Amino acid sequence: MITNQKSETRIDEIGDGIFRISTPVPPQAIPGGFTFNQYLIVDDCPLLYHSGPRKMFPLVQEAIASIIPVSSLRYVGLSHFEADECGALNEFLEAAPEAEPLCSKTAKMVSVDDFALRPARALADGEEISLGTHVVRWIDTPHFPHGWECGHLFETTTQTLFCGDLFTQGGHEHQPLTSDDILQNSEATRDAFNYFCETRQVQQLANKLADTSPRILACMHGSAWKGDGADLLRQLGNSLAR
Ligand SMILES: [Fe+2]
Ligand SMILES: [Fe+2]
Repeated sequence: MITNQKSETRIDEIGDGIFRISTPVPPQAIPGGFTFNQYLIVDDCPLLYHSGPRKMFPLVQEAIASIIPVSSLRYVGLSHFEADECGALNEFLEAAPEAEPLCSKTAKMVSVDDFALRPARALADGEEISLGTHVVRWIDTPHFPHGWECGHLFETTTQTLFCGDLFTQGGHEHQPLTSDDILQNSEATRDAFNYFCETRQVQQLANKLADTSPRILACMHGSAWKGDGADLLRQLGNSLAR
């Protein structure tokens, strides 16, 4: 574990070659406190999943540089088009000359190819690419939890689902990886912020993600979680369908 004392950004390996970068934001800045996480997959083709907000670029860049050269990044992925998912995308594309944005076909068409310095590599639903040892699969989940272009990335060898804003936990003090209950906190956060789109397909989409049988849920806000991810996703789907 590497902790930047000044910023408190930390980077921890939560799965084989999978690193969680997390920056806490205290309650003085965001009511209740919050965290912004990015995930780095270290491989022949290193992948950063979420750039973080543009203003956090120096912190995220420094954390990555403690593990691999930032210039070696090959992909910068995003679940959906929002500042904490891709605000620093262009900063990373400048720092890593071979890097491409990685996103859904809809995200490429609607936003990314206009916003980004280089065209995106768009993945179809179910499409996989090899990073070397790791293999990532794209799963389209429109509007789940928000954004027409939304989807999630699944790493098949470690069975890690990069579940973005699903299971968003409030607070700024979280373990990098936990097996404790995260659903209660994330449901309270959903109640407070109402950030889920009210699509009729929520249960179907939760089940679609559950079908990957994830062992690690790499959450964008709060702890990553280890356990029966399919069961937790079905619990979320049932809660949303009520
Ligand atoms: Fe979001
Ligand atoms: Fe987010």
